[in-house]
Amino acid sequence: MKWNTNLYDQEHDFVSKYGEDVIALLAPQKDEYILDLGCGTGDLAAIISNKGATVIGVDNSPEMIASAKNKYPAIRFEIGSADDLGYATAFDAVFSNATLHWVLEYEKAIQCIYHSLKPGGRFVAEFGGKGNVAHIIRALQSALVGNGYAALAAKKVWYFPALSEYSSLLEKQGFRVVFATHFDRSTLLKGATGIRNWLHMFGQPYLQTLPAAAIDAVLNTVEEQIRPTNFRNGSWYADYVRLRIVAIKQ
Ligand code: BEZ
Repeated sequence: MKWNTNLYDQEHDFVSKYGEDVIALLAPQKDEYILDLGCGTGDLAAIISNKGATVIGVDNSPEMIASAKNKYPAIRFEIGSADDLGYATAFDAVFSNATLHWVLEYEKAIQCIYHSLKPGGRFVAEFGGKGNVAHIIRALQSALVGNGYAALAAKKVWYFPALSEYSSLLEKQGFRVVFATHFDRSTLLKGATGIRNWLHMFGQPYLQTLPAAAIDAVLNTVEEQIRPTNFRNGSWYADYVRLRIVAIKQ
């Protein structure tokens, strides 16, 4: 899918803002070598770099990498996929914010992350966990079916694992999970069209092939259906549920 990086930075800057909490968990040290996996437009890589670590930012979106290079020319950014990383025993830490739910080959990604780390290196990540954006997805799928797009509605786009499932996969790979939490984080979306903007940006895998009139019809139905759960005191919220993990390569 193609990302509009300006809109991403302007309307969805909560992604990076919340990511700052995950950097606190990472606690990057001076002279550490750190991979930011799914670096987007580079804002978190820049914060990690400012702590004195050397960072490589990797993202599978050429638009994101072009924007990151433009914003932070002193940092190394590369196009790459979480399930096909070519690093071996390279990093003190692999950091990832709001990315791994996009990776349907999640076992391959865990393997790649493991091989990228030095022994004793840490994997620090946050992404969508079981139940993430459940109201939005349910409404979107039902609106797609209602508008004649049942096959599209059945498409698997994201991976939102339970904490026990993801921890077990990490342990099976050889990680020791030293911290894991699964929590609700209702997330404020900007403006009166917040949920529409969110769906235009993140719902692309479902919407990008539809004609404009069908997109409008689907979005109207979704808005109507989730207003009781996702619209409060004049604002739209995404019903985010996060998994936050720290695991050590044994
Ligand atoms: C998330 O950050 O939880 C998310 C982002 C885009 C699509 C689905 C979930």
